[in-house]
Amino acid sequence: MSIWHLAGGRPLRGSVRLQGSKNAVLPVIAASLLCPNETELINCPRLSDVDAAVDILRYLGCAAEQDGDTLHIDTLAPDRCDIPRKLMHRMRSSVIFLGPMLARFGEAQVSVPGGCELGQRPIDLHLKALESLGAEIREEEDSIVCRAGKLRGAEISLTLPSVGATENAMIAACAAEGKSVIYNAAREPEIETLQAYLRALGAEVSGAGSPVICITGFSPRRAAGLRVPPDRIAAATYLACTVCAGGEVRLSDAVSEHLRPVIAAFEKMGCAVSAARDEIHIASHGRPGTPGAVVTRPYPGFPTDAAPLVMAACLRSRGSAVFIENIFESRFRHADEMLRLGADIACRGPLALVTGVETLRGADLASPDLRGGAALVAAALGAEGESRITDAGHIRRGYDRLDENLRALGADIWCE
Ligand code: EPZ
Repeated sequence: MSIWHLAGGRPLRGSVRLQGSKNAVLPVIAASLLCPNETELINCPRLSDVDAAVDILRYLGCAAEQDGDTLHIDTLAPDRCDIPRKLMHRMRSSVIFLGPMLARFGEAQVSVPGGCELGQRPIDLHLKALESLGAEIREEEDSIVCRAGKLRGAEISLTLPSVGATENAMIAACAAEGKSVIYNAAREPEIETLQAYLRALGAEVSGAGSPVICITGFSPRRAAGLRVPPDRIAAATYLACTVCAGGEVRLSDAVSEHLRPVIAAFEKMGCAVSAARDEIHIASHGRPGTPGAVVTRPYPGFPTDAAPLVMAACLRSRGSAVFIENIFESRFRHADEMLRLGADIACRGPLALVTGVETLRGADLASPDLRGGAALVAAALGAEGESRITDAGHIRRGYDRLDENLRALGADIWCE
């Protein structure tokens, strides 16, 4: 088990180059299965979720090798179309392999995916979208079997703008005969990255970033490349760590536009945030103010993944903040752990009321999931004394060298 130790109370100073985005690279790795090709992904983060996706590709008979920040993939000769339970359970994004496998092999067998326990997290919208394209789907106890002689273009209306269902539908529709349109599609920046990759593979896709995405054709290419964009949630994490610990930090290779609601929250808290071309600079000293209300919504609304981080930054604020979670039922699992630091948080269902306290004290904490774990790291940086965070393996699923980068900024952090 991975354990992180932190001694709080040291301000952060310096700069960090942001890692590539986990949520952008994972669907791209799955999409590489769509046709026989060699793909090169640069600025690919080193994460255990990327390792999990690579293990799935290798299990299917493909080659994939990460060399530093570059991932080389070769999907010329896969030889199977099932993914065993143990690989599916390592992360939620394993379900995104369903569309490409169906498109490539005409059949796919998987089990329900794993990943962060943020609530029910059904995959009904993924399956409905694939059925609209002509797939026959049989759900047994723990396995899902999909078959399609030939996928046919279709109009797909998502009842909610699910990121994963949009991605699965986009990829599968590339191999469908005729035009497909996805209505009420997710608008996250990761969808635009997937569109860029599918185009590099030879697909005619348009509309990513808007609620309507069209897929009109596909002339497969044998090679494709992509630079993975910076991780907007990692950016929110470093900003929150700076507010919790105090100090001044510059994030390079950042896209501030992707973070508007998060930057607005930190500005409301009285932090000095400036965004230049591909940089974000933050300065925060003493106890911050509060953002008032933080209401999570699909993009371009406030990202649910950043809510635990902004909550950590509110623990020592001068005032109260209300968090309203609209995406996942169990987003606040980290709040109980924050109480051990002496925080004042009252949770009821999708609501959390955080009242700032003067001082936090180091404590033994357990990381409940990826973003909750990162939020505990941020909160512990603002606490007096030492904290110990167990189950920190969750953090490595989505953060590349977070501990090293924080140490370089002056934090007293080490990992067992
Ligand atoms: C993506 O998850 C992200 N993961 C999540 O980030 C992020 O929290 C989420 O989008 C929302 O922004 C990746 O991109 C790998 P959804 P995803 O389908 O695709 C419901 C992180 O920490 N729903 O948009 O799983 C679902 O239950 C992770 O990096 C259905 O009801 O999210 C949820 O309430 C955590 N049926 C809502 O939609 C479905 O078939 C949004 O889920 C699918 C989803």
